[in-house]
Amino acid sequence: MTAPLRSADPIVVPVELGARAYDIVIGRGLISSLGVRIRHLRPGAKVAVVTDSSVAKLHLAAAEATLEAAGVESTRIVVPEGEGSKSYATFEKVCEAVICARIERGDLVVALGGGVIGDLAGYAAASVRRGLDYVQVPTTLLAQVDSSVGGKTGINSAQGKNLVGAFHQPVLVVADTALLDTLSPRVFRAGYAEVAKYGLLGDATFFAWLEANAKDVFSGGAAREHAIAVSCRAKAAIVARDERETGERALLNLGHTFGHALEAGAGFSDRLLHGEAVALGMALAFEFSARKGLAAQSEAARATAHLAAVGLPTHLKDVPGGVPRADALMDLIAQDKKVKRGKLTFILVRGVGQAFVADDVEPAEVRAFLADKLSEK
Ligand code: GLY
Repeated sequence: MTAPLRSADPIVVPVELGARAYDIVIGRGLISSLGVRIRHLRPGAKVAVVTDSSVAKLHLAAAEATLEAAGVESTRIVVPEGEGSKSYATFEKVCEAVICARIERGDLVVALGGGVIGDLAGYAAASVRRGLDYVQVPTTLLAQVDSSVGGKTGINSAQGKNLVGAFHQPVLVVADTALLDTLSPRVFRAGYAEVAKYGLLGDATFFAWLEANAKDVFSGGAAREHAIAVSCRAKAAIVARDERETGERALLNLGHTFGHALEAGAGFSDRLLHGEAVALGMALAFEFSARKGLAAQSEAARATAHLAAVGLPTHLKDVPGGVPRADALMDLIAQDKKVKRGKLTFILVRGVGQAFVADDVEPAEVRAFLADKLSEK
């Protein structure tokens, strides 16, 4: 962890990936520098800006103005808002639009939006002309601290989320923290779950800082930028060591095994946003670890108390409309392809900041845990 920044200082977090290295630039008002940054990065390049209909209303004019002012020719590609756009049909439309805009090797795709846009535009960039470079301009907290960094791109299959995609690193990430001012409190809070995740998985000092400063992270300013920078630095370090998730990168999935099952159980609807499912999944991962005797109950209580204090769901009864029964949740966990030789893989913890990969978890133990949790009042 580093000292909090003055909000006027943009911070640069390098992602050290050799020939695929790039910078994450974080700061308030940075979108106005996008055009100049792109011109310096790729003099003479044209860009296709991929965005969704909601983000277009809020931020496309600012993005286009900075590109125009820097003399960067741009074409806009606007898709419908929401997870439904991570589909083969929308992917095809985006690829065709990028080709029509005559974006060639040497030009750039710009992903202006949240996780859906980053994944979709990144995968189109990975595919058109066998790979175009792209710039991430994340507009949600979740995208700024997680999905825009690390090169996971893709779309959904009828059989599951993110089953079709590619690792394709961006060449630059521009995270303008002022863009988060237009998020609803609920969407901001859901993104905060991924911020807390970095403390919970590997940085107890950062988690203690969040316990003391969460209010300021929510209200904006230097604390928010600091939290985003620490999160990006943590993710960049893990991605640099394990780009393709053969080991340590799996720690970033803390809370995601329970979380994905709960999201699927809610039909990926706005009954449970991804970040909310991750918060609840992290609370369950801590409680399950405590039950197995791996972590002290007080550590699970501490993790859960902080998530609940900021208004995130931490209990199965917090999901509006309820959750599936234990057997159905187990089926959803199995579908998430985390079963090997009859055992489940989970990210478990020995305490706050001490996550590890457990690939030998007995399904019966998880089922009994979920059944007990479901019976709690
Ligand atoms: N969101 C998890 C990862 O990027 O690996």
